[in-house]
Amino acid sequence: MTPTIEELAPRSEDEVREHLAAGKLVEGLQHMSPEYLRGIRRILTVSADTELISAPAYLRAARHAPALNNFGSAVSIIQDELAHAHIGYRLLGDLGVAMGPLIYEREPEQFKYPYAFDVPLDSWHELVMANALYDQAGFVLLSDVHRSSTFGPWKRALAKVDKEETFHLRHGRTWVKKLCADPVEKARIQAAADWMFILTLEWFGLPDERKRHGIQLEYGFKGMTNDELRQAWMGEAVPFMQEVGIDVPAHWDEDGQRWAIDCPFPARFDAEVKRWLLDDGAIGWDEVLVRWKGRGPMNADYVGRLQRGYRSRMAA
Ligand SMILES: [Fe+2]
Ligand SMILES: [Fe+2]
Repeated sequence: MTPTIEELAPRSEDEVREHLAAGKLVEGLQHMSPEYLRGIRRILTVSADTELISAPAYLRAARHAPALNNFGSAVSIIQDELAHAHIGYRLLGDLGVAMGPLIYEREPEQFKYPYAFDVPLDSWHELVMANALYDQAGFVLLSDVHRSSTFGPWKRALAKVDKEETFHLRHGRTWVKKLCADPVEKARIQAAADWMFILTLEWFGLPDERKRHGIQLEYGFKGMTNDELRQAWMGEAVPFMQEVGIDVPAHWDEDGQRWAIDCPFPARFDAEVKRWLLDDGAIGWDEVLVRWKGRGPMNADYVGRLQRGYRSRMAA
């Protein structure tokens, strides 16, 4: 019998609050309450699933590397992402989750990574744009966890992850800059930004007025709200795109002292042709949630690839 959450996490909610108020970190199940355990499992699963799925997504695009050494850089990024996923799943294992079934027996639509990874990366331009935009999103999110997390083992592991994400981001930026120097290549970089920028805006989830963060902030699973994280990401991504001359639908609003989005948002997206239907105007988040839940074109393919070896061995 697998122990229940209540059996695994012996402390009361009040005891956890006192422990955190004393400035102590949570080091394992012995310091957790059921709510804490549920919350930390949820955020670790999202993080590990995102790292894991980025591997087949980046590998698909790495085939378009212009030269062997560039392929090598892409593969070393993929290796980092697999190691990041492994950190998350190992910690989940320590928290009483059966790792094998979690990674290899879940249905594709049960994975909890952002919708953006369900849309295929079909060129080197799209891969380096993913490094510039998606890895920037990952970096913003993980730096926030690194600063704010009250779960000691994850907090410490993220010191290494942060350094590697910096390398992925630099890879993306160096290539975007280089390709922007050539007018033909720049047009292809712009085309990648046109669909990928808005998908990354979505990455940070529902706006604060729709989403209550209570326990996530209180227990220190994260420090910033969704809208604050979206702002932090724009604060990094938009100035870089402006510097290399790529148009993105956002600007710094001096009066409001915040980054403003210049297109209908959230919006309808045609995943098959990778195009935003901005002429339809802004839509409600309920419609976005339906698209997210239905997952996108590559979901079953990527999860299938990751599970194939395990499944065929189990069937043998
Ligand atoms: Fe990563
Ligand atoms: Fe990364």
